[in-house]
Amino acid sequence: MRKPFIAANWKMNKTVSETQEFISKFIPAVKDLRNVDIAIAPPFTSLIVAAENLKNTDILLSAQDVFYEEKGAYTGEISPLMLIDIGCKYVIIGHSERRQYFKETDDIVNKKIKAAKKAGIGIIFCIGETLEERESGKTFDVLQVEIEKGLSGIDDSGTIIAYEPIWAIGTGKTAATEQAQEAHSYIRERLRILFSEKADEMRIIYGGSVTPENIDALMACKDVDGALVGGASLKVESFTKIVKFGKE
Ligand code: PGA
Repeated sequence: MRKPFIAANWKMNKTVSETQEFISKFIPAVKDLRNVDIAIAPPFTSLIVAAENLKNTDILLSAQDVFYEEKGAYTGEISPLMLIDIGCKYVIIGHSERRQYFKETDDIVNKKIKAAKKAGIGIIFCIGETLEERESGKTFDVLQVEIEKGLSGIDDSGTIIAYEPIWAIGTGKTAATEQAQEAHSYIRERLRILFSEKADEMRIIYGGSVTPENIDALMACKDVDGALVGGASLKVESFTKIVKFGKE
């Protein structure tokens, strides 16, 4: 009942011409796929050209970040309205790299989510624990705080949650399927507290070293509704295999 959602997070990769090259090969490779929502999140500089190239396809355009003010003197920032203006349907908010390198706090993440909601753009809200937190048995506490603070004051359930254990991002170490399912099921429990039965319609996607080799096992988990893919989304061949999970 929850349609799978698989997103490519290109991070700080790909020039405009590399973006065009990827999209021109990717569109025909996935044109008959109907059972999965696919999103691509290129860097800001490639968004416009990606929007033009994705026109007339079902592939959704996503940004990787957004600022929480509508406009004004915020050098270097991009507002939700600017993203909507060029055709973005989603934005990633609270990625662990933003939290780690750019000091984004739960409070900033919450402001961004509120601003994006107000503007009407879809949200991919990232949460996840560090290795140290996992090893000291704090995974659920960390997830609980990130959910409560990140979604504070949000009264509708139309957000995609990306569970991304930080120790699995870019490391080649994927969470075992049991670990992923356990975390996703805990996240859904917390979402039920906020959104009651609507939580069962919310998509909780997994991120952290997703590859064509491990996608099938992850997607077979009851509460894993898709994936946020970094490294393996940079090549048309591997990302195509991932969005066609369960088929080859
Ligand atoms: P990865 O990144 O697939 O390269 O581990 C995932 C992410 O950070 O979204």
